[in-house]
Amino acid sequence: MNTEVSERPAATRHRGVFHPLTVAAVDRLTDDAVAIAFDVPDDLAEEFRFVQGQHLTIRCELDGRELRRNYSICSPAPDGPLRIAVKRLEDGSFSAFANERLRPGDVLDVMHPLGGFHIPLTPDQARAHVAVAAGSGITPVLSLITTTLAAEPSSTFTLVYGNRTARDVMFLEELQDVKDRYPQRFQLINVLSREVGESPVSSGRIDADKLDLLFTHLIAPDEVDHFYLCGPSGLVRLVRDDLRARGVRGDHVHYELFHAEDEEPPPRRRHTEAGGAAAATSHVRFTLDGRTTTVDVDPDTETVLGAALRVRDDAPYACRGGVCGTCRAKLCEGEVDMARNYALEPDELAAGYVLTCQSRPLTENVVVDYDA
Ligand code: FES
Repeated sequence: MNTEVSERPAATRHRGVFHPLTVAAVDRLTDDAVAIAFDVPDDLAEEFRFVQGQHLTIRCELDGRELRRNYSICSPAPDGPLRIAVKRLEDGSFSAFANERLRPGDVLDVMHPLGGFHIPLTPDQARAHVAVAAGSGITPVLSLITTTLAAEPSSTFTLVYGNRTARDVMFLEELQDVKDRYPQRFQLINVLSREVGESPVSSGRIDADKLDLLFTHLIAPDEVDHFYLCGPSGLVRLVRDDLRARGVRGDHVHYELFHAEDEEPPPRRRHTEAGGAAAATSHVRFTLDGRTTTVDVDPDTETVLGAALRVRDDAPYACRGGVCGTCRAKLCEGEVDMARNYALEPDELAAGYVLTCQSRPLTENVVVDYDA
């Protein structure tokens, strides 16, 4: 049974609302990657204002199927054009479409920017920032680098960037421009897994041995204020665990994954925190854009997001893998079991936020607020 129970003024940014944006440019970055810039009309300028490191969700219909994909914004500065980069993936339908068929003048549905892969910047800080990225993990990092160096004139930024070959390096020109502009404050360490470079650091994969070389000879982790990691989950976990083992505090390491690995989510917990039995069915009440709806959920087969989508097709989501954070909502009542979380920061968890695509109810009543 689904019941509409109340209405309240909607939040300024409507969660889950897509806007049709015209593609202004499609520029080839490498043999298998393009940058896509969008025209943002004046009346949507506020809605699409972004912070470095954030991402966009794109929705489009291909071959009769709705696809949603998340891409990091790679604009060199927050006041630059709204731009994403799409690298062609094996079996990737949208990435193939974007690389082969998308043209300026086409229209795509785009959701407003989301994501917390950034820290506040202040001009009086003199900090050392280091990013470790691989492949298209450079996309949010490019924005982080340019924005940070412009906003903190006394800070430095080092980028360790892993690719297979020099031809795979995305944003080569932009990175060269950053080097020319900030020769004393920007350092680029390219690591190519299939080419022999000038030094042991620059050839081979970024693995435990490479990190040992880097963190012993080139970068002193205890002198770095903030680390940013972006790439496949295996790489991000490797670097994060390595830094932890070297004594770097978790709140100094920020990371963003492309997508979760195809690991099976763990089975739902069978008991609540207090030890009570998990409910067999639950009533989930959720508020989205000011409207509150109740829906019954079988927690063994459905998540909070899945149930919400049955009755509201505007419920927000993109990856459905616990990575992008688009489905974030505040848990106001009850308890859920969240299988995976690669998106929420510790302070968001402490404030009661959950990823609804990963959350299955444990208590009979669960109340979540997407607008909070
Ligand atoms: S939809 Fe991406 S984290 Fe839930």
